Amino acid sequence: MFVNFRRMRRCQCMQLMTTCLVLSVVMVCWEQMDNNVVSHVKSYSYRYLVNRFTYINKSLTIPREQARSFSNFRYLLDHPHKCAGKDVLLLLFVKTSPENIERRNAIRSTWGNETYIQNTLGVTVKVVFALGTPQTKKEEPSWSRRSGVSSQEQLNHEDHVHGDLIQQDFLDSFHNLTLKLILQFHWMHHHCAHARFLMTADDDIFVHMPNLVSYLQDMSNKGVTDFWIGRVHRGAPPIRSKDSKYYVSFEMYPWLSYPDYTAGAGYVVSRDVADRIYQATLTLKASLYIDDVFMGICANAVGVSPQEHVYFSGEGKAPYHLCIYDQMMTSHGHVEDIYDLWKDATDPQVKQWTSGLIGRLYCTVVKMSLLCQPYHFNTYPCKAAFL
Ligand SMILES: *[C@@H]1O[C@H](CO)[C@@H](O)[C@H](O)[C@H]1NC(C)=O
Ligand SMILES: *[C@@H]1O[C@H](CO)[C@@H](O)[C@H](O)[C@H]1NC(C)=O
Ligand SMILES: *[C@@H]1O[C@H](CO)[C@@H](O)[C@H](O)[C@H]1NC(C)=O
Repeated sequence: MFVNFRRMRRCQCMQLMTTCLVLSVVMVCWEQMDNNVVSHVKSYSYRYLVNRFTYINKSLTIPREQARSFSNFRYLLDHPHKCAGKDVLLLLFVKTSPENIERRNAIRSTWGNETYIQNTLGVTVKVVFALGTPQTKKEEPSWSRRSGVSSQEQLNHEDHVHGDLIQQDFLDSFHNLTLKLILQFHWMHHHCAHARFLMTADDDIFVHMPNLVSYLQDMSNKGVTDFWIGRVHRGAPPIRSKDSKYYVSFEMYPWLSYPDYTAGAGYVVSRDVADRIYQATLTLKASLYIDDVFMGICANAVGVSPQEHVYFSGEGKAPYHLCIYDQMMTSHGHVEDIYDLWKDATDPQVKQWTSGLIGRLYCTVVKMSLLCQPYHFNTYPCKAAFL
């Protein structure tokens, strides 16, 4: 009896200790769980069950005079006649920063070469670069200080040669990206309103221009409206961790979830959508500095929702393979490899190899092995293998 009692106590003791251990592990991990799992669960619930994004619209609406402060920056470099008198299929804005001249040159001589596009694809695409003013001397690269030429002078020179910089008088910084977004929609409204589509893209993105052009021609022939395409984020929660680049305070955005939006790496809207977004920017407070989320807020205010295209990438870099080149639209994170990728991806052999029954079958298998791996995020989704 006594022994029995002792055994029972030992058993309980073990249970108690295990419980304590589990509890302490949970406590330690709780903060992280709270930040990730819980905020995603909350934000999905908000997105799918509550879905009251009208509050956002109401609370961010401000008088027009006030909203103007986000758009009435002086143009330091401008090309108002870029689109004049031409049937422009696509106006493509590349978001760039003053120091990224290498990236701009790479784009100019690969996928963003307007002459090539006109001659080879037979359509007019206008590629321009949106930027603000260079950071102060302290942050400038040392070679620029040594040479004694200010970055602005270098930009003026670059623009003199290429004629494709659209620069406004706001400081070019991560936290001013929303101003750059507004610049794009306002510029289109005033100088290129007849372009059929508007694309906005990062300067480290690869755009498969032939694929994109043929897709947009197809859409244009069908007369699409309400068109907003890219890699869609649904029910994404604001990031409340102060170490994150994307940190957003409760004061700036008190709600649990963002309206649906497309990854800022690259997305396309039709002319009618571009005009409605422009209208939205005239009355919305643009203090939220994550530009693609702000785009989502504007779109929500004017009743536009994004559609997913599996071959638009978000953060991810596409695998290098001709089966991918056959269908890719955009891929993110290309700088040094952009020349090679452009050459490989537009090689006429790609279409030869991937066409026909055998080619398509082969590509399905290859794409499954490339895209359908577990724990492999950020590139094209698995379902892209079956298109
Ligand atoms: C753009 O393409 C044209 C025609 O294909 C070519 O002559 C020109 O050198 C290219 N421009 C650049 C900057 O590479
Ligand atoms: C954004 O640009 C404005 C105008 O140049 C500047 O005053 C402000 O400091 C910039 N904001 C950030 C966060 O860089
Ligand atoms: C957003 O607010 C504006 C101005 O208050 C209003 O005209 C518009 O209909 C609202 N949109 C939605 C989707 O509630």
